[in-house]
Amino acid sequence: MNHRTYNIKNAVATLCLIAAGGYAYAAPVTVTIDTSKPGPVINKNVYGQFAEHLGTGIYEGMYVGPKSKIPNTRGWRNDVIGALKEMHVPLVRWPGGCFADEYHWRDGIGAREKRPVKVNTNWGGVEESNAVGTHEFFDLAEQLGADTYVNGNLGTGSAQEMSEWVEYMTSDSKSTLAELRRKNGRDKPFKVDFFAIGNEAWGCGGNMTPRYYTDLYKQTETFLRAPKHLRPQIIASGGNDYDTTWTDMISREAKKQTYGISFHYYTIPTGKWEVKGAATGFNESEWFSTLSNTLKIDSMIKKNVEVLDRNDPEKKVGFLVDEWGTWYDVEKGTNAGFLYQQNTLRDAVVAALNFNIFHDHADRVKMTNIAQMVNVLQAMILTDKDKMLLTPTYHAYHMYVPFQDATSLPLTLKDNPQYSYNGSSIPEISASAARAKDGKLYLALVNTNPNKDAEVAVDVPGVSIKSVKGRVLTAPAIDTHNTFQAPDTIKPAPFSANAGADGKLTIKIPSKAVIVVAVE
Ligand code: AHR
Repeated sequence: MNHRTYNIKNAVATLCLIAAGGYAYAAPVTVTIDTSKPGPVINKNVYGQFAEHLGTGIYEGMYVGPKSKIPNTRGWRNDVIGALKEMHVPLVRWPGGCFADEYHWRDGIGAREKRPVKVNTNWGGVEESNAVGTHEFFDLAEQLGADTYVNGNLGTGSAQEMSEWVEYMTSDSKSTLAELRRKNGRDKPFKVDFFAIGNEAWGCGGNMTPRYYTDLYKQTETFLRAPKHLRPQIIASGGNDYDTTWTDMISREAKKQTYGISFHYYTIPTGKWEVKGAATGFNESEWFSTLSNTLKIDSMIKKNVEVLDRNDPEKKVGFLVDEWGTWYDVEKGTNAGFLYQQNTLRDAVVAALNFNIFHDHADRVKMTNIAQMVNVLQAMILTDKDKMLLTPTYHAYHMYVPFQDATSLPLTLKDNPQYSYNGSSIPEISASAARAKDGKLYLALVNTNPNKDAEVAVDVPGVSIKSVKGRVLTAPAIDTHNTFQAPDTIKPAPFSANAGADGKLTIKIPSKAVIVVAVE
């Protein structure tokens, strides 16, 4: 086909689409932001991270030990920590996950060479040196300037063990445990912002019923003692997916002593744990099913929030999505227990869709922790010996930094088309707006359609918009990703648009893209 033939055919096709009310020149989507009715603050900890003793997530990925040739500060890699600081990590959850319910904190204190070597039974059966323990974790958090979330062991631990750990970390007295902490090099108490009693009590945390767990939770919480100004906020282990029974029982029986109830949901392309789908080299069918499955979290949150609104109308108890993200088949040739997976443009779109949903529930969703920070599942960073790369998910987090502690603003989307595939549909555009701490109005947009650019008219009643400025993240292929040979294949690019002579501003958002702009 020569060029001329193509153009004529194309023009005819376009005319047909116009005549048929098709998409080529469809009316733009209109996003209207109501700045007169500010909503709840989007807690910065909605952008929290999860670091478990799993695969190379901590060892190698972040912690290489003080004697490593890889430049480090007290064992923590300077390159990785630098990139995470740049991303403004507000909070880190540690040491698990399933690992937490077999972790005994005394194994991870004192001289490192004398710490016991254990077997990581959950994740690959590899040796756990315990080189990273309580002091190392708080060093990491302090280097990052992040809040801390310590997950206690209810599975193989006890109320006494958790009580003593909290005393070890927080006591400013001369008690034997506080003195032991001092002997191990830390005079002042650590700042423990959050402490969870167990993890996934319905599964790897002990296969408990909500009844049994709630009783153990109340018993344990009673004995978590700390100086009043240093007492961590306490988190209960809740349910997953569409199960609201945990939320119901805990919020009915223990709301006074609970900061929030944890909830887990993973996005799996096929929806089946046995064969999840690949991280790269997937087709449009899995692009669509992944986005469609990730959007289900909205209805899961809504169902749980309904229960909370009934049991806790004062909105005291938070709904904390402390594990979420994509979970694919592991990369070929890697240890199946290490959950190592590549990360593509699809993951960035998944992240942004989830952020926009979390913002919509900012009054209850006060924390989320993506699984996991480095080299595990939907990671921010991948490492290979001394090399590291930033994933598309890292870039999405970086673009959304202005939303941390911003005040959410209600918005409406008019004429939002559906992106349809094989008889199913999801909304084409997802949007979120907030007034950030710098006083500026920020707008985030996602185009879920991999085949079609979109036009979004921005309307802020009472405000004459001059321009928008920010960044866009997109790429030629749905599975574009960074590699150690080409680490900058996908990264954000500057984006701006100006209002027309009529004072109206329209953003042209490319297909399969995330945009975050300041509206000026
Ligand atoms: O993030 C990996 C695992 O997924 C966690 O250890 C567990 O809590 C969940 O099942």
